[in-house]
Amino acid sequence: MADPDDVAAFGAEMRQKHFAFAEGYQPLNHGSFGTFPKSVLEYQRQLQFESESKPDTWIRYTYLDLLKASRSAVAPLLGAEAGEVVLVPNATTGVNTVLQNLVFQEGDIVLTFSTIYGACNKTIESLSEICPVSSHQIDITYPVTDDDIVAEFHSALQHVRANAKTPRLAMFDAVLTFPGARFPWEKLVAVCKEQGVLSFVDAAHGIGHVDLSHVGNVDPDFMISNCYKWLMVPRGCAVLYVPFRNQHLISSTVPTSWGYLSKAERTAIPAQDYFDKLFEKVSTIDNTPYCCIPKALEFRSKICGGEAKIRDYCFGLARHGAARMAEILGTEALQDDSRCCFATVRLPLTIAELGTDGDGPAVAKWMQELTPSEYETYIPIKFYAGAFWCRISAQIYLEIGDFEWAAATLMKICDRAKSQEWKGRNARANSDKSFIVAALPKAGSIRLSLRVENKVGLFSRLRDQTVARQ
Ligand SMILES: Cc1ncc(COP(=O)(O)O)c(C=O)c1O
Repeated sequence: MADPDDVAAFGAEMRQKHFAFAEGYQPLNHGSFGTFPKSVLEYQRQLQFESESKPDTWIRYTYLDLLKASRSAVAPLLGAEAGEVVLVPNATTGVNTVLQNLVFQEGDIVLTFSTIYGACNKTIESLSEICPVSSHQIDITYPVTDDDIVAEFHSALQHVRANAKTPRLAMFDAVLTFPGARFPWEKLVAVCKEQGVLSFVDAAHGIGHVDLSHVGNVDPDFMISNCYKWLMVPRGCAVLYVPFRNQHLISSTVPTSWGYLSKAERTAIPAQDYFDKLFEKVSTIDNTPYCCIPKALEFRSKICGGEAKIRDYCFGLARHGAARMAEILGTEALQDDSRCCFATVRLPLTIAELGTDGDGPAVAKWMQELTPSEYETYIPIKFYAGAFWCRISAQIYLEIGDFEWAAATLMKICDRAKSQEWKGRNARANSDKSFIVAALPKAGSIRLSLRVENKVGLFSRLRDQTVARQ
């Protein structure tokens, strides 16, 4: 039972009581880095304190028991056994772990979709420099139906085989990064099984977001899911699912560490023992995020009422929020099927309104960067399929008013884009500076405050500079 003082309704009360956001900050992008409740933060600090009080005792012994408890706690969320899940720091490490362990033959192909997360695509590309493997990417543009996606997958398999190549592995998401949409991973795993292709589900946005308790039944060959995103575990924790039957395929970790044994050594011990040991201690990192899974689940069950209640609220909020934003903006939501926590909404801005030199991706980036620098929030904005779209993440600490605020803010930003403000941004900072330098006496320097942009042009800030005439 939750302490009555901790009980909070979803929305503003939840945010105020249980999360650490700064006053006035609008957290609309849970999908990128997640966040976790104050109670989990305090627990993690306590573990860090304990580990600093007796580093060897904690890291060599105490941590192992906590790790075991975390694997047991997280496995049911995937309908799996504790022995089939291990913890790694993030999804990219999980993707690299699987791909670097598979032994590819000449002509092997990894099938992917054009919606793949960029870093995962790069992982395959970089692997193709050292292994006989390449990728075949299936182009899809939303809106598409699940059936379209499955049909495209079938034709890609045929195409690869017709070119005398071997479709060895298919990698696809559970929920896409952009546009924020659920992907038919269950159907694609079934096709993979039928066709003798290994399946790897990138569920970076899966656990704590969509129901994955049927993973054990659907039975993909591999799955990775970030616990730090939607499960509210501190950053540095993801769960890698490898069913017992495939554990012999994983001989090392990323990076290779003390758990690794030679082929002769590891075949002499039970595969399960090897798999457990391999991932117990991979080099030296802060392992406290791994140990926070039970605490995060306790918050989600005691304070929030459980996974289903969280999903119902967030899916409903994403659906209603997207519809309300589309109404305010006079546009449309990408999908209206309420199957995930993302609201992807078109912005009221066309490429024609930007003038002849309007560069869609560059303007989208400019608008996105305005959100933290001038509006105390962060809203992913992309130029996608010929239009501007934003992605808002529904979460238990938000309510419909936050989506209305997002729409009003985006309306202002679109108006600024239409008035071509994006054109002069860099030029203005530079011309201010050269104007002042030109006004200096022949020899000498002056302290002044300038609005400048950092290396990636992200924030414009006031910074003191000493400017001297050359
Ligand atoms: C679909 C997908 N895969 C992989 C990743 C990479 O996650 P990480 O940065 O935790 O490695 C992300 C990150 O957002 C993602 O959206």
